[in-house]
Amino acid sequence: MSSTKRIAINTGGGDAPGLNAVIRAAVLSARSRGWDVLGICRGYQGLLDTHLTKSLDHDSVRGIAHLGGTILGTSNRGNPFDYPVELGNGKIETIDRSDQIVENFHKLGLDALIAVGGDGSMEIAHRLCKKGMPIVGVPKTIDNDLSGTVVTFGFNTAMSVATEAIGRLHSTAEAHERVFTIEVMGRYAGWIALYAGLAGGADAILMPEIPYDIDVVCDKILRREAHGRRFSLVVVAEGARPVGGEMTIKEEREPGRELVLGGVADRVAHEIEKRTGKETRSVVLGHLQRGGSPTPYDRILALRFGAAAVRVIAEGKTSVMVALDPPVVRTVPLAEATRRMKTVPLDGDVVCTAREMGLSLGDE
Ligand code: F6P
Repeated sequence: MSSTKRIAINTGGGDAPGLNAVIRAAVLSARSRGWDVLGICRGYQGLLDTHLTKSLDHDSVRGIAHLGGTILGTSNRGNPFDYPVELGNGKIETIDRSDQIVENFHKLGLDALIAVGGDGSMEIAHRLCKKGMPIVGVPKTIDNDLSGTVVTFGFNTAMSVATEAIGRLHSTAEAHERVFTIEVMGRYAGWIALYAGLAGGADAILMPEIPYDIDVVCDKILRREAHGRRFSLVVVAEGARPVGGEMTIKEEREPGRELVLGGVADRVAHEIEKRTGKETRSVVLGHLQRGGSPTPYDRILALRFGAAAVRVIAEGKTSVMVALDPPVVRTVPLAEATRRMKTVPLDGDVVCTAREMGLSLGDE
C-alpha cells in the first residue's frame, strides 16, 4: 500500500450518540495525512448500491461532533451475509451478498474501511476481513455489551438520559405515593439499568444477569412503606426476566434480525400492584436513550476512537477494533471483540455497591 490512502467509513446497527464525532475525527485525521475519505451510507448498503456513497472532507464534518444520529445513516437490517430478499409470495429469505461487497470495495479503489458499529457490525467486519477486506472496527453501542473494550461510546449518554428520567420520576412518585417501574434499554446486558439505577437513586434494579423473584421486589417496596417511604422506583432492564421465566418479547422480526424486547416494566408493574395493592405505573424510556447530543464523555471517547482508527490504518494494521483500556486506546483483534457478549459481572464492585446500599436486585 502507498502512504497516501483512500479509506471509507460506515456506521451500522442501531445509532448511538457519538457516531458523528467518530466520523469527524476520522475524516480530519485522514485529511491531515492527505488521504481521501469516502462515506458509505446506511451501514453496508452503500457497498451494495454504490451510489449511496459520498466524499467526506473538512466541510462535510464541520460542526457535527455534538450532534446525535449519524450523517451517514445507519441500518440494523441488511447483513450482507444474511441479506433479506422478498419472495413473490410475501415471504422473506436471506442470501449471501458478501462477495459483492468485497468486489465493490475494490472497484471503489479503497485501501481500508473504518466500520463503526456494535456486536453485529463487528461480526460482519470480522467475516469480511477473512474475505480480504482490510477493516478497522470502532465499537459503539448504548448497551455497552461489546467485549474487548472497557466501554463503548453511546453508553454514557444513554445512562445519563436514563438517570435524569429516574430523577424526574422520583418527585412525582413521592408526591402521589406511587410505585414506578422504568424500562431501560440494553438488550441482554444490564449496564444501563445498573448504572442509571444506582446514579438515579432507584430502590430496585432488575437486570438480565439476575433473574428476579417478584416477591423479593414486593417485599422491598413493602419494607420501605413500613418505614414511611410510601413510594418506590424500580428500574427494569428490557431484558430482565423472572426466575424460571423468559424475557418479554415485543415483536419478532424477519429472518436475520434481532427480536425486539419490550414490555417487561409493564409486566412487573402489574405484578407489583396486584401483590402490594400500591398504585403502580410503568414508563418505557425507549429510543429517547439513543437520541440527542452525546455527553462530553462520549464525544471525547468517540473522537479518540475515530482518530485512533486512522492511526491504526497508517500503521498498516487491520482486522482489529480500537478499544478503550484506560488510560489508553489500544487495538484488539476483531476475533476477540466478537467472541462473547460483555454482561455485568455479578462479583464486580458496582453490583456490590448496590447491594451494600440496600438496593434490591430482585434476588435477595
Ligand atoms: O442495541 C441498541 C438497542 O437500542 C437496544 O438497547 C435495543 O434493544 C435495540 O437496540 C432496539 O432496536 P431498534 O432500534 O431496532 O428498535
